Amino acid sequence: MGKIASILGAILVVAGCAGPGGPIPEPTPEMALAMGVEEARLVRGRESYMTHCNRCHERVLPGKLDPEYWRGIVPHMAKYADLTEAEESDLLVYLMAAHGTVHGENLQH
Ligand code: HEC
Repeated sequence: MGKIASILGAILVVAGCAGPGGPIPEPTPEMALAMGVEEARLVRGRESYMTHCNRCHERVLPGKLDPEYWRGIVPHMAKYADLTEAEESDLLVYLMAAHGTVHGENLQH
């Protein structure tokens, strides 16, 4: 029983994270350490992303664009989404961490 429940749980976790085009990873202590930021910043960045970044168009997944492209477009989209400077910076650091996680890259920036 316990084993079946944990297998079902694992399937649900996988299905929940991996939408078409890749997952939207939950921040972890490892991601925060690799980026050299507090995990709270990644959590806030992900929240902004989930709240605002599908208001006008479908969510563009973190793993879909190169870090350079994200760096260029986030300031523009942050204005569209009315983010504060702090929110914009948390969003960008989350996207960098998430991109690296999705692609299994070294997260240093
Ligand atoms: C108020 C509407 C609006 C909001 C909110 C918004 N966007 Fe956009 N987004 C657009 C429009 C319009 C475009 C088309 C290009 C342009 O206007 O620069 C676009 C284009 C993009 C692109 C380029 C797509 C491509 O394939 O090149 C990305 C990436 C993007 N948005 C990400 C985001 C993210 C991340 C957020 C959350 C901060 C966000 N957007 C919030 C309106 C919005």
